[in-house]
Amino acid sequence: MNNIYPIKTKVSKQQREQLMNQHATLIWFTGLSGSGKSTLAVQLEAQLHNLGYKTYLLDGDNIRAGLNKDLSFTDEARIENIRRIGEVSKLLLDAGVIVLSAFISPFQADRDQVKKIVGSENYIEVFVDAPIEVCEQRDVKGLYKKARAGEVKNFTGIDSPYEAPTHADVVIPTGSLSVDESIGKLMEFVLPRISPR
Ligand code: ADX
Repeated sequence: MNNIYPIKTKVSKQQREQLMNQHATLIWFTGLSGSGKSTLAVQLEAQLHNLGYKTYLLDGDNIRAGLNKDLSFTDEARIENIRRIGEVSKLLLDAGVIVLSAFISPFQADRDQVKKIVGSENYIEVFVDAPIEVCEQRDVKGLYKKARAGEVKNFTGIDSPYEAPTHADVVIPTGSLSVDESIGKLMEFVLPRISPR
């Protein structure tokens, strides 16, 4: 950080949180493609919004269509993808917002790094835990089929690794829970943690 001198703002994160009457928190969904991350994040955001919380959802496919459209799916590119999202999340948390993020985020070290960037007291890790057989069976985007045919390279779970979280705060087995049941479980965990402190 040579020759960089960050300014100090007059309005603090705490003041913004007070104004919004909430504790800015990052709700980080991780899981295989097709596990249900986006479905759950979209639903959870809608419920929180309806309760009056100020939210924002960052989703892999959306972010990769804009901010991160220069990134591929090599290990290095995924690491950079998650690093940037960690930094964007930090800015949004500083703005007082409740952030939901849905990225495969396959590497434990990168998820741990995000937690460190935003502070562990502001971070909830949700493991959307569906077996690859279930994800492949669903194959909503047809990408597993393409990956099996060799038309898509470095596909998570096929020829690119996924490190299942070892210390997720919430585990949602979407292979056996309905969306409503999953959201119920998430709301129970999340609500007490996003209330003003
Ligand atoms: S991450 O690994 O870098 O966290 P991210 O969540 O941003 O991935 O993007 C995953 C999405 O990109 C998938 O939902 C899928 O639609 C699309 N995609 C395209 N190619 C791949 C690939 N090789 N591996 C995984 N997802 C891919």
